[in-house]
Amino acid sequence: MYTIPELQQLVEAAINRVEYPKQPSNLYEPIRYIMRLGGKRIRPVLLLLSSELFNPDVTIAIEAALAIETFHNFTLIHDDIMDNAPLRRGQDTVHIKWGVNNAILSGDVMMVEANKHLTLLNTEVLKDALNCFNSTAQGVCEGQQLDMEFEQREDVSIDEYINMIRLKTAVLLGGSMKLGAIVAGASTADASLLYDFGENFGIAFQLQDDILDVYGDPLKFGKQVGGDIISNKQTFLLLKLKELANPDDLKLLEQQSYNTDYPSKIEFITALYSQYKIRELAVTEMKHILEIAFTSLEKVSIETAKKTKLTELATSLINREH
Ligand code: IPE
Ligand code: IPE
Ligand code: MG
Ligand code: MG
Ligand code: MG
Repeated sequence: MYTIPELQQLVEAAINRVEYPKQPSNLYEPIRYIMRLGGKRIRPVLLLLSSELFNPDVTIAIEAALAIETFHNFTLIHDDIMDNAPLRRGQDTVHIKWGVNNAILSGDVMMVEANKHLTLLNTEVLKDALNCFNSTAQGVCEGQQLDMEFEQREDVSIDEYINMIRLKTAVLLGGSMKLGAIVAGASTADASLLYDFGENFGIAFQLQDDILDVYGDPLKFGKQVGGDIISNKQTFLLLKLKELANPDDLKLLEQQSYNTDYPSKIEFITALYSQYKIRELAVTEMKHILEIAFTSLEKVSIETAKKTKLTELATSLINREH
């Protein structure tokens, strides 16, 4: 049994061993850059933890873990273009460093690289693994599309928002867990329970991401604080505020969506969040969804003691600062 830091090191070492072609350097340098920028590596670690529940030899799952982390980093490159984000993991985003066109193409090649990792899996699990990976990747695209469309809409409901973050973020966490289970030969029922755990955990994870986008410490967060406010993202925080604000505050809030003085926009909306205790409500919702996630984990047909690491990791990530 590996500890979580040991699994993180295993993932890090595997990422460092991957070789990409040298030329054209503007195609491959961004991939090396983003892959080595020091993310939390939670998806590959969750995948390995899931696999380890059914087979103590986690090395069987390492290529699947690399596929998932490569895919995740690809989505970050394209997401940062779409969100017009300047910072990622405390550094310039890929499109700022190399331009948008390079960022698009490097991202595309990363999807290919992710698939190359998958082809190295055992043929007995390959078809299920590919099906899992493909439906996950498709879900992420659907979620990203909804996320963008919601920026232009005033009438998004909280249910629609939850479904959007389920797609853009949570299916990848669920898919990572399911892929780990598939590679390790788990039963369909267990793989599906781990998917459900990962998906609900992923919703909670994105809620914390939305909270940090407003309340994160700029030195620790690694992304632009207030980015969601600037681009009128329909987050849980904003939707809850719209639900609770009195008519006068609602009017003021509406006017803010056109405010191009971004520091004042961030300050104004954050003050409304505080006034209506929106952060506290978001935290309550996040903890509630995490509890739902744990009910699926409990049903996985493995002794409880073996699930402790997953419970601890999920709990610590809900309290993360970046
Ligand atoms: C960022 O994911 C995108 C979201 C789904 C919120 P992470 O917070 O896992 O980013 P890294 O990989 O650790 O940088
Ligand atoms: C995360 O959404 C979803 C994907 C990256 C696919 P965000 O746009 O909130 O992620 P961050 O905050 O930029 O990491
Ligand atoms: Mg973003
Ligand atoms: Mg986004
Ligand atoms: Mg975010």
